[in-house]
Amino acid sequence: MTRYSRIIGTGGYLPEEIRTNEQISQTVDTSDSWIFERTGIKSRRIAGPNETASSMAEIAARQAIEAAACDPEDIDLIIVATGTPDRVYPSTGCLLQQRLGIKNCVAFDVQAACSGSIFALSIADQYIKSGAAKKILIVGTEICSRIVDWTDRSTCILFGDGAGAVLLGVSEETGILSTHIHSDGEYEDMLYCPNPQVATEANKDEASYISMRGNEVFKVAVNTLGRIVDETLEANNLEKSDIDWLVPHQANIRIIVATAKKLKMSMDQVVVTLETQGNTSSASVLLAFNEAVRDCRIQRGQVVLLEAFGAGFTWGSALIKY
Ligand code: ACO
Repeated sequence: MTRYSRIIGTGGYLPEEIRTNEQISQTVDTSDSWIFERTGIKSRRIAGPNETASSMAEIAARQAIEAAACDPEDIDLIIVATGTPDRVYPSTGCLLQQRLGIKNCVAFDVQAACSGSIFALSIADQYIKSGAAKKILIVGTEICSRIVDWTDRSTCILFGDGAGAVLLGVSEETGILSTHIHSDGEYEDMLYCPNPQVATEANKDEASYISMRGNEVFKVAVNTLGRIVDETLEANNLEKSDIDWLVPHQANIRIIVATAKKLKMSMDQVVVTLETQGNTSSASVLLAFNEAVRDCRIQRGQVVLLEAFGAGFTWGSALIKY
């Protein structure tokens, strides 16, 4: 019997506060038109002072569990993807486990920056295919607004907060067709966020904010995502026209358009959320997927390509027959 990992529930959470390009333009030298033309972003959500990665994860997770009509006690494994954990430890996965009141499961975090939820899907798929788990909760959750330097116009315009979740179950028919994940640590200096608590003498003065050489990252992202599309199609013996939906990481509309072009897809088949959410890092793909499932754009039986690129560099894809 072939065991597939099937998505049986989705969820998402966006904090209440909306921060517009106009508001940012009042504090740094930028404009709504520059930000929108270069990135496709108009506004982003900002977490409240008492919100954390785990509190947002809980809301998204409960939605996914409810959508799947699943007893939380049946969940074997929780994987949380985040670059903004509540604490160094325990993991945000364990904090989420506590919040959900689940006693008998394993929980851990995955750190792969913006590719985190694809990495989590890939790990979960191996557990389900091997028979090691039957129900796995995956959450991507980020408070990017707290690691962004709000005086740096090259980064503060890009990021937002939120959480996305999926619950995976076992199916004999359809589900995740394949996952493909990659890392290349060579490019650390192009995109990083220091951790001041463990700074050495040499980097103790570094600010604990995201640092990015955006233009260079942009070029690598476009090339890399083009390659992952080919790799995914080849692995499944599929043509570009077999893909019904593209659910990309939401970093920049120009990167998304380039990937859609590579797939010869119309933008009507691409789920885009970044206009009102910005880049929510590891939450972005799952938030977009949740949105398109809930508004019935993505239908059961359709073939969906999820992909992401982020710091590390890390990149990956998941091809799903939903
Ligand atoms: N407003 C006005 N001008 C700006 C702003 C701003 N907010 N930011 C930069 N500029 C200026 C620059 O100073 C530069 O001026 P100069 O020509 O006088 O030097 C000019 O605009 C062009 O700057 P670029 O960086 O070349 O602009 P670009 O078109 O590349 O857009 C952006 C920048 C939006 C950051 C883009 O490069 C990008 O999206 N990069 C990829 C981001 C990404 O995918 N990251 C990976 C995921 S994130 C993660 O993993 C955490």
